[in-house]
Amino acid sequence: MSILNLGVLASGRGSNLQSIMDACAAGLIPARVAVVFSDNPDAYALERARLAGIPAVHARVGGFDTKEAYERKIIQALNENKVHLVCLAGYMRLVGTELLQAFPGRIINIHPALLPAFPGLHGQEQAWHYGVKYSGCTVHFVDEGMDTGPIIIQAVVPVLEDDTADHLAARILEQEHRIYPEAIKLYATGKLVLEGRRVRVKD
Ligand code: GAR
Repeated sequence: MSILNLGVLASGRGSNLQSIMDACAAGLIPARVAVVFSDNPDAYALERARLAGIPAVHARVGGFDTKEAYERKIIQALNENKVHLVCLAGYMRLVGTELLQAFPGRIINIHPALLPAFPGLHGQEQAWHYGVKYSGCTVHFVDEGMDTGPIIIQAVVPVLEDDTADHLAARILEQEHRIYPEAIKLYATGKLVLEGRRVRVKD
């Protein structure tokens, strides 16, 4: 089975990146992280990549005249490292047309809530403040909207009576680390079929 080259985009601490790298290294998914890109030069995700011997590229949005020019820089880094699937892992920017068109149907994202509820920033806190009894996390294909693309896999996390937003977020994160590698495995093994906006998982 061929090995799928992943490009991971991350803005912060990179714990989801780590779970993906660990799953690849353990041979649990037929993939490898070929490059990590960050919009934040101080992102710990970049350090995690360097520690694993993976190319780590960063560029600030402010250094570019337009979003298109910025995304061309990202595309260059992805193409130079022969990336097939782009994984957003705590990448805190809306993906634009330039990047979407360069990787059609080949960009996925993890979100810390049960979409379509609580899209955008701080999904865990939004859910806790709203008072839902169940929240969770979602891996989905990326489209032009904010966390609106076809859903690949979700995990449900109950909200406990004495929960805090932080405790809930920590339990959701555990599930993120489980389902993101699982979603990549489904993609890498050709198990995902897009039917309209429904994603069917083949046996
Ligand atoms: C994760 O909880 C991820 O779901 C979230 O950012 C965190 C990044 O953590 N993403 C979003 O909120 C995107 N809308 P990490 O850097 O440790 O992987």
